[in-house]
Amino acid sequence: MAVGFCETSMMLQLIEQPSPEQMFHEQYAFYSSTSQHMQRHFSEFARQVLEMGVLSKENPFVVELGCNDGIMLRNFANVGIRHLGIEPSRNVAEVANSYGVRTISEFFCHQLAIDIVSKEGKADAFLAANVMCHIPSIVDVASGISKLLKPTGVAIFEDPYLGDVVEKTSYDQIYDEHVFLFSAHSIQHLFRQQGMELVDVQAQKTHGGSMRYVIAHAGAYPVKDSVNRLLEKEKSIGLNRVATFRKFSQQVEQSRTELIQLLTGIKAEGKRIAGYGATSKSTTILNYCGIGTDLIDYISDTTPIKQGKFSPGMHIPIKPYDFFMASPPDYAILFAWNHAEEIMAKERAFIEKGGRWIVHVPEVRVLE
Ligand code: SAH
Ligand code: TMP
Repeated sequence: MAVGFCETSMMLQLIEQPSPEQMFHEQYAFYSSTSQHMQRHFSEFARQVLEMGVLSKENPFVVELGCNDGIMLRNFANVGIRHLGIEPSRNVAEVANSYGVRTISEFFCHQLAIDIVSKEGKADAFLAANVMCHIPSIVDVASGISKLLKPTGVAIFEDPYLGDVVEKTSYDQIYDEHVFLFSAHSIQHLFRQQGMELVDVQAQKTHGGSMRYVIAHAGAYPVKDSVNRLLEKEKSIGLNRVATFRKFSQQVEQSRTELIQLLTGIKAEGKRIAGYGATSKSTTILNYCGIGTDLIDYISDTTPIKQGKFSPGMHIPIKPYDFFMASPPDYAILFAWNHAEEIMAKERAFIEKGGRWIVHVPEVRVLE
């Protein structure tokens, strides 16, 4: 796996990616609602959309890309707003439907947007979270969004933010599903080609630092100051220049050296280390650093579909959370660091019994 940066599109992206059908199917392993914190985040997101005043009074229509188990659209379904979820992973789409979230199991693309418009009309709001950055045919998707939205419609989406990745050396955001890491620069460039405009940006704490982008047809809404402020900040940290990423790669190498040293040292003292959260992010770390069962005994994860399996590449066993409770390690490396707040709050007993946390973001260390 390798990344490249294009100074024209200002996009950081994977050079090669598995086909979408290999990743998003009827056995997709990520259920959004496993995180209570994210459930609250998406009800708040939905509330903000409802209060923005962009939904028409008569029969509004909200479309969500990658709605997963319905974590966001549930909030629209519950208040009787016409909606449509587009979710190619059939297992999670079925969960959404069972919650009364009207979901079709398809990959979003330009042609699907045209079909939706002909059957159901144009949308007031197009929403997406942590999915735009998953779709290699992003120009086709942007073109579909421009066709799908009413003249006054808005697209609101959020994804892990490139600025946070560089600042925190969170290189584990680079993995098979994340074909892109966006910035205001790359998003502005992408949508300009479709006659659309970036009108607002709002930083989010989720997933280790995300950015929410608001896009509209050019001229439909005033561009908020937040956009220019962020563009200026990005220029000052060099998110539009390839040299920044050459430096970033050195920081990544340094982070690897420090993590291997820390884990090897702990292991040499005869202590047990387990992983917490069998995240996609951890797959990048384990393979890049070459960490296997010599250093980490097992990884605990609450997702049933992951349990009893092995981490891709390094083959560390994934155990249910009960196993972690029954057999707590001396040290737990927090692979789900983006959920740190939620996890720390519920794992007080682990610390009280003498357990310690290892984190690798923003720097490699044992938490005091
Ligand atoms: N929005 C949820 C889920 C993010 S995971 C959240 O933030 O928690 C990404 C989701 O996007 C997966 O459920 C995947 O099946 C879906 N997805 C991937 N490619 C897609 C495409 N082309 N169109 C619609 N959904 C897609
Ligand atoms: P994510 O970082 O892609 O959101 O994935 C988080 C993973 O961590 C997911 O597999 C579920 C798991 N997890 C736990 O095992 N325990 C927890 O408390 C949380 C929040 C997540």
